[in-house]
Amino acid sequence: MGAGYVGLVTGACLADINLDVTCVDIDEDKINLLKKSVVPFYEPALEEIIKRTTEKSKLAFSTDIRKSLQHANVIIIAVGTPSLEDGNADVQNVFAAAQSIGAYINQDCLVVIKSTVPIGTTLLIKNEIQNIIQKRKQHFNVDIASNPEFLKEGNAVSDFTKPDRIIIGVETEHAKNTFLKIYKPFVLNQYPILFMDITSAEMTKYAANAMLATRISFMNEIANLCEAVKANVNMVRMGVGSDNRIGSKFLYSGIGYGGSCFPKDVKAIIKTAEKYGLPFELLKAVESINHQQKQLLFKKLMNHFKSIEGKVFAIWGLAFKAHTDDIREAPSLTLIQAITDAGGYTKVYDPVAMPNAETQLKHNPAVTFCQTANDTIKDANALLIVTEWPEFRILDLQIIKTLLKEHVIFDGRNLLNKDELNQFGFTYYGIVMKNQEALKTEIAKILQSSEMWTYLMDSYHKT
Ligand code: UDX
Repeated sequence: MGAGYVGLVTGACLADINLDVTCVDIDEDKINLLKKSVVPFYEPALEEIIKRTTEKSKLAFSTDIRKSLQHANVIIIAVGTPSLEDGNADVQNVFAAAQSIGAYINQDCLVVIKSTVPIGTTLLIKNEIQNIIQKRKQHFNVDIASNPEFLKEGNAVSDFTKPDRIIIGVETEHAKNTFLKIYKPFVLNQYPILFMDITSAEMTKYAANAMLATRISFMNEIANLCEAVKANVNMVRMGVGSDNRIGSKFLYSGIGYGGSCFPKDVKAIIKTAEKYGLPFELLKAVESINHQQKQLLFKKLMNHFKSIEGKVFAIWGLAFKAHTDDIREAPSLTLIQAITDAGGYTKVYDPVAMPNAETQLKHNPAVTFCQTANDTIKDANALLIVTEWPEFRILDLQIIKTLLKEHVIFDGRNLLNKDELNQFGFTYYGIVMKNQEALKTEIAKILQSSEMWTYLMDSYHKT
């Protein structure tokens, strides 16, 4: 239930292991597109799986909720739980799904909550379904489970088919065995299924996202401090990350986290904690640091220009990260708004997020939507790179120099090489990260000059 991001990836990947799957959604336009194997958002590899599995009649799409639910053995709820204005997660779609399940099922089934729901919701859903079944004077066994998703946009198929671990909160052995059958093909090597109680599974999802968001805000603060004291945050990151207890992933400083999960889930867990009288001060700080970090590029812009009234800026990249067309909570939106508020204009381009951006920004007359990256820079006062799309790494500096009115580049993802740009006559502002090549050279230099290198080479020759 719910042919959105999570529902579609889950449905398609389960159909691909020969389970019979129907993705059901109330949005007729979306279902009609999907019936033609058109995925309404950008996600690499998903469209091929949908084509393949619909051709084999393993995957179907429907708006007929009653028919789709009647004979289902397993029902996965994957509808959206967006943030309400007060920061709580809006669970009305999940309850609407539960009411349909209660009203339409005709046999025993396992109901799986994949939507990210506030702690305690899964058990409330179970009650809701059972109450409705009782009112129908029927007796079906409904098992309930919490099976949160950990998919990253842009990498979702791979995350689903090769998971680090699968978290499942269950109440019965029967539910457990059903999951073991469903997920067996994905966990052949390590079997990373962690069964636990339902509340702990719900909590795991929030705790995981909150911890990742905390790492990012922590590293952003460290990066800002590194800049102030003239330390190299990349070396610090590697030094810190090579401690096994810390690990090297998700330690990249940047222009703040965005997307559909981290901002929403951090807000929601703060709200849950408040409900239990626990002010989650750490996460409040994580949120506030992220808010400030999203202003970083704009601050650098103001530092350089002092006033930007009437000036035009080329924005490369609108998606909250590369390989997705999602612009929810994207740093680009904060930047564009700040430029507009300060009297500036923006010309924007993204390889895949233009339709979403136009919907969101069409009421801002200070924004011009461009067909290509080069269109944005014509007569612009500066170029700002906001999303790390690979195509922005390869520049024709001569063309950029000819088109840009002032030769200034703000690189929010450190995709470019400062020395090269300076040599070409550009003023370059990166953020605290450096690009991979520069890093490799730096590491090589350090290794070659260090005693560790000599020791390693000696050992190598000896053995
Ligand atoms: C995230 C979680 O990773 C996933 O497990 C969960 O199910 C949904 O939320 P997603 O939002 O798709 O996935 O993106 P992710 O790749 O995790 O990045 C989130 C944000 O953090 C992006 O804005 C990214 O640019 C930023 N980020 C990530 C950093 O700033 N530094 C890092 O080191 C990693």
